[in-house]
Amino acid sequence: MAEFKILFVCLGNICRSPAAENIFRDFIDSEKRPFTVHIDSCGTASYHVGEPPDQRMQDRLRAYNHSYQGCARQFERGDFDRFDLIVAMDRNNLTDLQSLVRQPADSAKLRLFSDFLPNRAPKDVPDPYYGGTKGFDTVITMLEDGCGGILHALCKNPEIE
Ligand code: 4NP
Repeated sequence: MAEFKILFVCLGNICRSPAAENIFRDFIDSEKRPFTVHIDSCGTASYHVGEPPDQRMQDRLRAYNHSYQGCARQFERGDFDRFDLIVAMDRNNLTDLQSLVRQPADSAKLRLFSDFLPNRAPKDVPDPYYGGTKGFDTVITMLEDGCGGILHALCKNPEIE
């Protein structure tokens, strides 16, 4: 069975990208599919390496019936080799990733999360770190929508049939 490998990337890897990883895994696990998906997340920065997801994000994910697991790590260039699709949460994250590109094949794997949201949606998944509960809920709702979009795109991708 084909396996597709997706990496979600934010700044600290304790709020948005681990939430995306867990939400997407919940989507994948909810139904049998003719392909498997390896899902991971990381941050462009090293501030929180080794830490679990932010407690506030854990609490909100639980409130939305999502699981949470993982521990923060920083993006490394080898991730360009290990993943088929690398999804940045915001345009700053994307710029940081672009600065690490070694060859055109690396660039081709980079996407912005909002590419998988409807056109009217904001370009960035907003950083909830310095805000309140509402910001975490906004992030989770955007991630649920976009993860649905990614799954739809995967199901239409002839390379993984
Ligand atoms: P994340 O959120 O990039 O969604 O994990 C942040 C986490 C930590 C910090 C900023 C954003 N920080 O400045 O420590």
